[in-house]
Formats: sequence, structure tokens, C-alpha cells
Amino acid sequence: MKKLLSMLLASMMIFTLAGCGSDEAATDTEATGDAVKVGVCIYKFDDNFMTLYRQELERYFEEDLSADGTKYDVTVVDGKNDQAEQTNQVNTFIADGVDVLVVNLVQASAAPTVIEAAKAADIPVVFINREPTKEDLESYDKACYVGADARQSGTFQGEIVANLENKGDYNGNGVVDYVMIMGDPENVDAQYRTEFSIKALTDAGLEVNKLFEQRGDWDQSKGQELANTALTQFGNEIDVIFCNNDGMALGAAQAIAANGRTVGTDIALLGVDALEECQQMVKDGTMTGTVLNDHIGQAHQAADAAKLVVEGGTLEKNYTVDYVKISE
Ligand code: GAL
Repeated sequence: MKKLLSMLLASMMIFTLAGCGSDEAATDTEATGDAVKVGVCIYKFDDNFMTLYRQELERYFEEDLSADGTKYDVTVVDGKNDQAEQTNQVNTFIADGVDVLVVNLVQASAAPTVIEAAKAADIPVVFINREPTKEDLESYDKACYVGADARQSGTFQGEIVANLENKGDYNGNGVVDYVMIMGDPENVDAQYRTEFSIKALTDAGLEVNKLFEQRGDWDQSKGQELANTALTQFGNEIDVIFCNNDGMALGAAQAIAANGRTVGTDIALLGVDALEECQQMVKDGTMTGTVLNDHIGQAHQAADAAKLVVEGGTLEKNYTVDYVKISE
């Protein structure tokens, strides 16, 4: 209805302007009138991986998807890691009459609140990166989730260690003694990576020993602090430091160097995301491995799903993009 009205308005203006002999102005007006308004909520801007993701999302909407004539007008807002703030942002987008929402929740448990508000206004929601429950998604036919299966990323981390010549047993005591630096544990990515990295080791027949496990909330400086605490406390007992993401692994790498340890010689270091600097570190041998979290594939899939539902298509509930193992 909204679209119909603006099309009607646009054509009335073309008619009027054409009467004045200004074709150029008419075309401009038409394009603006037709723009699809997209409201994007990111859990916080200060996150390495989500920064790459949101930049690609905006670029893809505004360049690639806008190339066929339908203009996408994208507004991206920073939730500052505060769910109350993000809920306000969602409500503001709804009041502004966006055509579709793309939401990276601060807390996955807020999905029902977001769905309720969007559903009442008949605005579709594409959730990204932080997965709502199946039940939440099923409560609204215009809601879907685009993400990756974090079990796969954890499994890949563990397999990289199991495939090392020494199978991750640097101190030669017959056991893989490890430190786990977790992301935000409310996020399934953190839960699954923690669980499945270790499961891959035990599935490969290795014995494991957890020395230390704490949350670093995806944050580089917290990763450094926690790795430093673990290295101070357990010293050469530590064989492997698993980090749920590369941001924290970058911090852990600084702590490893500061404690006089050497990756590949007396310790292993694993992350997830495949940030450019970490891919380089894997090549240089200062990081054992990482797992590509495909922000480009996920951004494109999220925008394609938004386009589909805006154009009246039916959404699937889940769209999953594969991870890729990176160990050389
Ligand atoms: C994960 C990613 C982390 C962090 C998190 C935010 O998928 O690996 O680096 O961005 O999402 O929810």
C-alpha cells in the first residue's frame, strides 16, 4: 500500500514535471520514490568481524542489488551492546516505516520482542549472526535467520590440532592440555565452538585436560588479559590456546609473545573468523590455524533474503553459509 502510494505520487510528479519539460528531474524523483528502506541493527560497531560484515552488507545492498534499478536506502545503527538501546532502534525503524529489518541481536533472548513489534507492523525481519530459537522464527512467517553452523567451526579448530604432527601435545605428557577463551556465552557461536573444538580432539582419540576456561566476550584486550592470566598460572603445562574468535586470538598472541612462548614450537593458538591479519599470521606460523567465517557470503545471503521477502517471496527459516578451515 505504502509502495503503491509512493509510486502513484511519483508518477503524478513525472506527469507534472514532464509538463514543465524537465525529464531529468522526473527520473530522479522516480528513483527516490521507489527506494526500498532497509533498517540494519548491529549489536555493536566495536567488533572486528561484525565491522567487516556490516560494511559488506551495506555495499552489497547499495551497489550490487541497486544496480538493476531498485534503489536500496540502507541505514545502519550501533546497538552499543545494549539490548534496551537496540530495542528502541528497532521501534524507531518501525515508526519510520522501513520496508525490512536486518537484525544482529544484542541478546538472542530478545528475539520475541523484536518479532512481536515487527509482526504488528507487517515488517519482515532477517536475523543475522545471533540465532533466535526455532520457536521464535516459526512465530512469524516473515522472519528468517542467516548464519553459519558454529559446530562446524569448532570441529575445524579441533581437527587442525589433531592433524598436527605432535597432535597438540607440546609438553609430551600424553594429554592435550588446553586453555579455552570464550566469546559471549549467550551466543550459540561461543557455546558450540567451545564444545565442538574439544569434541573433535576426543573423537580423534586424544586425551584432553582443561586447564582454564573464561569468557572474553569476543574482545581483543580481554583475550590478551585472560591468556596472560592462564600463561602466568599454568606456564609450560599449556599445550593449546583455543579462542572462540580471531579478535581474542590476536590478544592471546600478544600474551604468548610476552610470556616468552613460541607458537608452533611450544604452544598452539587457534581462532575463528579468518581476519586478514590472522590469515597472514597462519602463513607466518605465529598462529596455528583459524576458520573462515564467511562475512561476504553471509552478508549477501542476508540482503538477498531481504530482497526476496520485500518483493513478496516466501522466506526459508534458515540460511546457512559454510565455514572454511585455514591452517596454512
Ligand atoms: C561470531 C564471530 C565473532 C563475533 C560474534 C558476534 O560469529 O566469530 O568474532 O563477531 O560473531 O556475535
